[in-house]
Amino acid sequence: MKRVLSLLLAGIFVTCAQYAMAQKAEDAIKYRQGVFKVIGWNFGSMAAMAKGKKPYDAEEFARNAEIVAFMSKLPLEGFTPGSETGDTKAKPEIWLEMDDFKAKLDKMQQEVTALEKVARTGNFDAAKDQLGEAGQACKACHDKYRNK
Ligand code: HEC
Repeated sequence: MKRVLSLLLAGIFVTCAQYAMAQKAEDAIKYRQGVFKVIGWNFGSMAAMAKGKKPYDAEEFARNAEIVAFMSKLPLEGFTPGSETGDTKAKPEIWLEMDDFKAKLDKMQQEVTALEKVARTGNFDAAKDQLGEAGQACKACHDKYRNK
């Protein structure tokens, strides 16, 4: 009886652990998507100004750039082992080529950090150029590691 009980308890424990892992993967996916949503929102605002679809406001542009630069440090921890499947557009290659993925993330961080600096000067032309560089860094990773 004792044995049956301990097996039963072990079973419950395993089920809970699996549940916790599934929960965690789901949370990790939501976390990284949320981070990218904030990045995308702010990036979109700068892109709209750069394209003349929204009036240029130096302060707003600088604020957008500051938020993107800060947020760019956050996505990596959301790419946890086991979170390659689920409601995600992340390609499984990320987990096989983590060094290259990290390098692409580093590159993007460098470009958006540079963008934040340029944006603070209020030089719109220079900021537009740097926004283009940053955009290339986003695209380089999306092309390789994100499903459409
Ligand atoms: C190192 C790789 C990498 C870089 C660099 C990168 N992204 Fe992404 N991005 C991803 C991946 C992977 C996803 C899919 C995440 C998922 O669905 O789990 C994604 C998703 C997104 C999404 C969709 C979020 C959602 O779920 O609604 C937006 C918006 C986005 N990225 C914007 C950007 C912008 C803007 C940049 C550049 C400033 C950027 N990303 C740079 C890898 C990257």
